[in-house]
Amino acid sequence: MIHKKDWWRHAVFYQVYPRSFQDSNGDGVGDIKGIIERLPYLRSLGVDALWLSPIFPSPMADFGYDISDYTGIDPLFGTMDEFDALVLAARHSGLKIILDLVPNHTSDQHPWFVESRASRDNPKRDWYIWRDGKPDGGPPNNWLSEFGGSAWQKDEATGQYYYHAFLAQQPDLNWRNDAVRTAIHDVMRFWLGKGVDGFRVDVIWHLIKDAEFRDNPANPHYVEGRPPHEKILTQYSTDQPEVHGVIAEMRRVIDEFDERVLIGEVYLPLHRLVTYYGNELSGAQIPFNFMLLSAPWNARSIEKIVTDYESELPVGAWPNWVLGNHDRPRVASRVGKEQARVAAMLLLTLRGTATLYYGDEIGMQQVAIAPDQVRDPFEKNVPGIGVGRDGCRTPMQWDATTSAGFSTAKPWLPLADDYTHENVANLDADSRSILSLYKALIALRRELPELMAGAYQPVAAPGDILLYRREGADAAIVIALNLGTEPVSLASSSIGFWREILLSTFLDREGEEIQGALDLRGNEGVILGRSAQAG
Ligand code: GLC
Repeated sequence: MIHKKDWWRHAVFYQVYPRSFQDSNGDGVGDIKGIIERLPYLRSLGVDALWLSPIFPSPMADFGYDISDYTGIDPLFGTMDEFDALVLAARHSGLKIILDLVPNHTSDQHPWFVESRASRDNPKRDWYIWRDGKPDGGPPNNWLSEFGGSAWQKDEATGQYYYHAFLAQQPDLNWRNDAVRTAIHDVMRFWLGKGVDGFRVDVIWHLIKDAEFRDNPANPHYVEGRPPHEKILTQYSTDQPEVHGVIAEMRRVIDEFDERVLIGEVYLPLHRLVTYYGNELSGAQIPFNFMLLSAPWNARSIEKIVTDYESELPVGAWPNWVLGNHDRPRVASRVGKEQARVAAMLLLTLRGTATLYYGDEIGMQQVAIAPDQVRDPFEKNVPGIGVGRDGCRTPMQWDATTSAGFSTAKPWLPLADDYTHENVANLDADSRSILSLYKALIALRRELPELMAGAYQPVAAPGDILLYRREGADAAIVIALNLGTEPVSLASSSIGFWREILLSTFLDREGEEIQGALDLRGNEGVILGRSAQAG
């Protein structure tokens, strides 16, 4: 039995990118009222918690990940009253609300930074990372911005450089400074006090940098054509041992309140990722596991990823899986339309908390963005090599009307061409659509304790087949996924007693009893339960 305070363990999280979810006031940009209007949809989908990308006042240089006031709401998204109404309405719908906490950097327009840059002896100078240049006048070291160029920006007025891991408009806070820590803890308390259920912490592995600011080593494996920041490793600029103390402090703030959750954004190799659970689980309850975002889409690679992850988890740590987010290409484009259904079954039948990205449940595709429509600063700074993130941030496709029911105006990003057919209204009316599949998977997961909490047990299978069991105390189910396009027949010896199809990704075999071998079509996944006869 899962304790109430651990609700997040068996939850399905749904990421809303507020700019693109639902516009209620006809300005082409989504807003809080729009999210409230769409709560019935989210409830019908069956998800448990919404994570909202930033809604705070921001100059929008990085679309809200450059915050100028941590405890306000940007007028573009609405008002604080509307936010409070959202929390209340969500609670009535049984939905939790997770906010995006961006503590690594602020906007350069944040009053803290305005003060900090005012003079070398300003009390807030040390809230950010200021360094003298090299004797030749160049930047303090070789660290690179993830969005292109040096990570150091010279401030002519005071003659020093400040550090920015991302845009120059996103100066990094100095987390070695106690006042910074206290200020962000107070921000957390402000929102937790309003009834928010937790935070997804932006770039949490970036918070602490090397105390000596040593040069980063060159990346011997850099591949030409990849983003320029990959030319150096981030040995000294990220993932420093002291970061875990900072995260444990954040966790203590979370634990001052009941039933809250700390989620960390961490892009690191597995053995480093798992350290973010913290010493004796004092860190993030959910260090996001992004391995499926870049996994080669074949059965053996994914099987290895799952097995490695399961075996590296610290004792007592709870797993989690993510299929998409606002920084990575859409899953339906990565793995193809047919396999997107198999991916859905994988996400919702693996052991652990599942996070899905808005629109993936209707199979939204990566949208090609014409050069003159690019909004993403990453693409603007590093054009033409495919780093742009606009294509996965296009408006939610609600119906076939103008602007896909997202807005009455021209949306801030173009709509996908296929929106007149691939939209919530159409797919909801089709009992075999990908949306119906997502609903069925989420409902089944809720119904079957083995799916929610059962152990993961891989089962040997040939070729394109990924086969595993989820084993509860006195029952188990089997999941068989065909990651290939060819039909496959699985010998009865590999599926054992599990002979009743509970769900197929095609939604047309429920209740079927398997006699002998299990035949799977190309791109088909099934969940099998024990049939009555099999005992
Ligand atoms: C995170 C966000 C991304 C943002 C970056 C800088 O990776 O997910 O969208 O650009 O941090 O804040």
